[in-house]
Amino acid sequence: MFASEPGRRARSRLSTKSEIATKPIGEASHAAKPAPRRKAKLALVPRDAEMPAERGGMPPKIARFLETAELPSPCLVVDVDIVAHNWSELARSLPQARIFYAVKANPANEIVSRLARLGSCFDTASMGEIDLCLRHRVSPDRISFGNTIKKERDIAAAFAKGVRLYAFDSEAELEKIARSAPGSKVYCRVLMECEGAEWPLSRKFGCEPEMAADLLVRARELGLDAYGVSFHVGSQQTDLTQYDKALVQASALFDTLAERGIELKLVNMGGGFPSRYRTDVPSTEAYGTAIREALVRRFGDRQPDVIVEPGRGIVGDAGVIQSEVVLVSEKGGSDQRRWVYLDVGKFHGLAETMDEAIKYRLLTPHDGGETAPVVLAGPTCDSADILYEKADYRLPTALKAGDKVCILATGAYTTTYSAVAFNGFPPLASICI
Ligand SMILES: Cc1ncc(COP(=O)(O)O)c(C=O)c1O
Repeated sequence: MFASEPGRRARSRLSTKSEIATKPIGEASHAAKPAPRRKAKLALVPRDAEMPAERGGMPPKIARFLETAELPSPCLVVDVDIVAHNWSELARSLPQARIFYAVKANPANEIVSRLARLGSCFDTASMGEIDLCLRHRVSPDRISFGNTIKKERDIAAAFAKGVRLYAFDSEAELEKIARSAPGSKVYCRVLMECEGAEWPLSRKFGCEPEMAADLLVRARELGLDAYGVSFHVGSQQTDLTQYDKALVQASALFDTLAERGIELKLVNMGGGFPSRYRTDVPSTEAYGTAIREALVRRFGDRQPDVIVEPGRGIVGDAGVIQSEVVLVSEKGGSDQRRWVYLDVGKFHGLAETMDEAIKYRLLTPHDGGETAPVVLAGPTCDSADILYEKADYRLPTALKAGDKVCILATGAYTTTYSAVAFNGFPPLASICI
């Protein structure tokens, strides 16, 4: 079974326990023993011949790896070359922007280290993420503390470590930054409606533009560098016009502040760049073109410094969760759908199936055979642990317990969402190849 050279290499790589991480942030202390290993059966590894990796299919390197690797189940496998490719493609499509990778999407050491070597900057949400970046020798001038909700002692700790760029969206937060990170650059996050986003980040973050203007004036009064504005058009944003809509507000704020004697310099455009789930999405190049044109339209020849903070668009397509069918059953009565229970669910990383928002693509060993509608659920004793009930999912009728099911484009927002021990199940294991 392990006849091929790449296969043998893969197997020996996996003999290093610390390479399979079962907790997102941190080093060897977080790397737990893999669950009991079963040898992967070649014939049961799902393949996806029709859709090439760059359109959301099974990445070939991961497919080859899964043919021979002995992994705990479930396990996320991330192809770090795809991460690097996605980052470089965005850098090419948006050359005027500095890329701050949103660490929250996937903080695996291999990802942070590869992006650091490519020259990326990093958007962080906590001291845990800041320390992670610093451990990878990212200099503090390449780190922003982008969470608008920070403990003052964390602001002070970040400042002591050299971080000088902070987000805020309220006066109280601004005062904390002024006290504990004096003189730092600050940008104000503006509320967005996030129309068109599959995972909206509206309401909780940002303030109305009029308030943002007042707060930026207040920032200067407090001795801070009123540096710019930020927005996030919502995660998995496939409506390219949303960036233009946001830039209308941003440029209006630049004008208002100029009238009040403050020259803003930065527009932080957040994330929103998509992964390829069940429906196709515009290319990275299309995002680049739409944003570049919108910047010219709204700022003319007085272009601001631009930051983007992609998370999902960098790591989503680079990962595949290999899971296993635990049970296929029926309920009787009028709903004739089968229930397919996987060993991965809402509490093991697939939290973004909440309200069936993110609809992952699935591969099974029986693809191409007869299919029927299913309800897809996770393994825990919690009735919230249902992945898809309303979205129209169909799976092969031949599917049975023990079959492997690959869940595509799961590189973003999975390991970090996984519970530590709900129902006694270990957190989602992951490996970077
Ligand atoms: C401040 C901030 N920036 C960037 C991101 C990354 O967004 P995305 O994954 O859509 O690229 C997020 C996601 O929550 C965020 O909160």
